[in-house]
Parts: sequence; C-alpha cells; structure tokens
Amino acid sequence: MTTNTVINLIARPQGTFGPELFEVETKPMPSIAPGELLVKQSHMSLDPAMMGWMSADTESYIPPVALGSVMRSSGLGTVVESNHPDFAVGDRVMGMFGWQEYAVSAGVGIHKIDPQLNPEMVLSVFALPGLTAVQGLFNVAKPKAGETLIVTGAAGSVGSIVGQLAKADGLRVIGVAGGAEKCDWIVNELGFDGAIDYKSEDLETQLADLTPNGIDIFFENTGGEIQSLIVNRMNAHGRVAVCGLISEYVAAKPLPGPDWLNVIKKRLTIQGFTMPDHLQHTPALLEKLAPYVAQGKIKYRAHVLQGLESAMTGIDLFLTGQNKGKLIVEL
Ligand SMILES: NC(=O)c1ccc[n+]([C@@H]2O[C@H](COP(=O)([O-])OP(=O)(O)OC[C@H]3O[C@@H](n4cnc5c(N)ncnc54)[C@H](OP(=O)(O)O)[C@@H]3O)[C@@H](O)[C@H]2O)c1
Repeated sequence: MTTNTVINLIARPQGTFGPELFEVETKPMPSIAPGELLVKQSHMSLDPAMMGWMSADTESYIPPVALGSVMRSSGLGTVVESNHPDFAVGDRVMGMFGWQEYAVSAGVGIHKIDPQLNPEMVLSVFALPGLTAVQGLFNVAKPKAGETLIVTGAAGSVGSIVGQLAKADGLRVIGVAGGAEKCDWIVNELGFDGAIDYKSEDLETQLADLTPNGIDIFFENTGGEIQSLIVNRMNAHGRVAVCGLISEYVAAKPLPGPDWLNVIKKRLTIQGFTMPDHLQHTPALLEKLAPYVAQGKIKYRAHVLQGLESAMTGIDLFLTGQNKGKLIVEL
C-alpha cells in the first residue's frame, strides 16, 4: 500500500449531515518519525458528538474540527510500524485516529486492546458508550436499589447500557425510545420494566402508568417533549444526569425547558457531564463495568457499515433513528 485514503470535513453542517460536508482525498502513505507509530485502522466509531465537533462552536468542551482537516473519530486498529518503545507491530490499539485508513500517532491517548476481544464489543461496550453509562449512572445519578430510573435514547448505545446496569442493581427501569421495534427490544431482550415510544400519543398517561411511585433518576440523552413531563414526575431529592440532547443538536430553536419550580419543590440535582473530563478515570470506570459484562448482564447490538466512505452517510442515521445499536464503520 502506497497511499492513504482520508475523509476531510470541508463544510459546516446546516441541519443535515450528509456527504456534501466531506471530501475524499488520496494522500501518500505517511512515514513515521522517531517516537511515532503507524496504525492501520480496522473499525471507526460514529458518535452523535461528531455533530457538535463539525459545528463552528468554539465554546464547547472540545474545539471544532478545522475545515479541510481529517474528520475526528475514535477507532480500533493494528500497529503496522513502530518507532515507539511502548508499542510493537501487531499490537491492537484504540485511539482518536480520524476518518482515514492509516493514522500516525505519538502514542498519546492510545490504549492497547486485548486482541481476543471482539472489536464490535469493544466499541459498543468498553469504549465511549460503556464509560459514559458508568460515569453518568454511578458518579452523577448515584442509584439505589428500589428507586425508579427513566432513560431516554434507551435503545441507543449509552441508554441501553444505563438501563441494564440499573436493572442489575435492583432499580425499576423505564426506557424511552422511538418506535415499536426498539421498545420491544429494551423490554423483551434487555429486561427493562417498561418502554415508552416518544413518538406515540398521550405520553403523560403512559408515564404515570409506568412510574406509579414517581421517578428518582432521569438519565437524559435526547431532550424533546417528554423531558418536561418526566421532570414533572420526579420525586423529592431526584437526580437528573444530563448526558445528551440529540433532539436539539440540529433544532433551529430548543424547546422550552422543564418547569424550574420543580427543582426547588423537589430539591432536584441536575448535572450535565461530558466524558473528556473523565477519560483519565477510564481504568476505574472499566473496573466498575467489567463485572456486569462478565456476569452476562450487558447485551448490546452493533450497527456495522462497510467501508470508510460509508461514514459520510452514517452520521445522519442518528437523526432518523435508523441506527439499531452502536454505529461502527468497518474498513
Ligand atoms: N456527555 C457525554 O460525554 C456523552 C458521551 C456519549 C454520548 N452522549 C450523548 O448521549 C446520547 C446518546 O448517544 P449514543 O451514542 O448512545 O447514540 P444512540 O442513542 O445510539 O443513537 C442516537 C439515537 O438518538 C435518537 N434520536 C434521534 N433524534 C431524536 C429526537 N429528535 N428525539 C429523541 N430521540 C432521538 C435515535 O433513537 P430513536 O430511534 O429512539 O429515536 C437515535 O438512534 C447523545 O445525545 C449523545 O450526544 C454524551
């Protein structure tokens, strides 16, 4: 191989996330300097956070991707050349490699992965989704057995793990997802106690029926109309972990938020969090997650697209809800 195919971001999104934002470029194969390694990428993770990274927003938790540069993403690969003392040819590694076949790295932020582990499982469970679920559930929401938790985006990568962890710890778990298939999956396959299709009618009645003792924990991944209805049913000293608001990532105007009188009346704790603040705690988060996985308590499904260029149409699947599980591009 003498060339490296890369995909650059060339325009800021205006409500859609299709191929018009990208260009495919064939570059010469990069060479490595002392202290560097060359990784051949096998799998890339697609994540809703990328929508924010493509925007021009400079006030977010991470700078935007510069126009004309390789689109940012995390992924898995194999070291094919190494001038780095800690990495050898053949090592399986995970890192921020971007939308490209080969990536040069100085080794910073790169982790070795057990080559025996299924790559889809690594990206679906032990990477961002699992770390986010553990951080948000245990360190932000602080669940107790017997409490009621509701999670939005419940059939998604993060939400499905949040619900299963909470279920395993003895909480009543209700998931909010789009459509009958996803609602069936979280109840019948994952063991949630109930599901609400946020696209259906009479959400308030469905919520009341499924949370007869109110709601102690709200793990928020989506925003939307149901957000206020959930906050209205929170119990005293309830906790809201604000992880994501995907419905607002492309909305012209955000919906008005919940009634803040509830925050006082119910003495709620509402906390937003972003994983880049917590990545240095990855070993501890994985240590917390691993026993649940080992005991077979965490199921996942991966939605795998084929070929580097499929990434350009992949992001939009998040907005239409067509992704069934963790979106991964296999190169
Ligand atoms: N704070 C952090 O550090 C952090 C880290 C990772 C992820 N996140 C956030 O967590 C959320 C979930 O991420 P994920 O990777 O697990 O993605 P995901 O849930 O696997 O995929 C996104 C899902 O969002 C749902 N959705 C899209 N538009 C919606 C709308 N208008 N209203 C309600 N739901 C909508 C769709 O499912 P339906 O078919 O059910 O609509 C879609 O499948 C995102 O908001 C993401 O930004 C935050």
